[in-house]
Amino acid sequence: HIPVITIDGPTASGKGTVAHKVADKLGFHFLDSGSLYRLTALTALRRGADLRDEHAIAKLAEHLPVSFAGGEILLAHENVTQAIRAEEVGNLASQIAALPTVRQALYALQLGFRKAPGLVADGRDMGTVIFPNAQLKVFLTASVEARAQRRYKQLIDKGFSANMEDLLSDLQARDDRDTHRAIAPLVPAEGAHFLDTSNMTADQAIEQVLKWYAQ
Ligand code: CDP
Repeated sequence: HIPVITIDGPTASGKGTVAHKVADKLGFHFLDSGSLYRLTALTALRRGADLRDEHAIAKLAEHLPVSFAGGEILLAHENVTQAIRAEEVGNLASQIAALPTVRQALYALQLGFRKAPGLVADGRDMGTVIFPNAQLKVFLTASVEARAQRRYKQLIDKGFSANMEDLLSDLQARDDRDTHRAIAPLVPAEGAHFLDTSNMTADQAIEQVLKWYAQ
């Protein structure tokens, strides 16, 4: 039986960093499920796909030529690790993530990440839809202000430009879409442990998750 830890939460809550480090500490595989929605969005943007054509977008999702190699994300051999982090891509990702056929297209791909010795999966519906039988489920949150600040720093560090006011309103729009969509909305999974990281360092959050897992 291969253990799974799910870490779900809103945009910029720090779940990516926490999930990644927890996976490293345990020697587990890591699934950044948001990257799959971002990759689909990037592909749609580049191909100039008709965003109202749900089936065309789902087809792109189904045939993503993606591979993950040592923390880098490759799309048909091109390193797109940075490109998928652009705000434009994140915003489109959140829009296409509301399309049922797109979610369906990415379902099997995500299950395939469950490999020995274990998996840490980060996203919105890891504990509710993809791995409902996970050993440990975490719902990671932080205040809107703390998240906007983190996202700002992240973008600047990566060489993107950023504006605090735009970030705050984008963040709220994305929260709203992610929590109110009809399919796989962002809600705490049954049995999830809550972790509010507004006033926590990443290391403290990682420690708490590892403690829960060890219990
Ligand atoms: O970095 P951020 O948290 O903003 O986004 P992400 O985790 O990279 O995911 C990008 C978008 O994909 C999110 O806004 C969600 O709408 C969507 N997503 C989802 O619907 N389900 C997941 N399991 C992961 C991401």
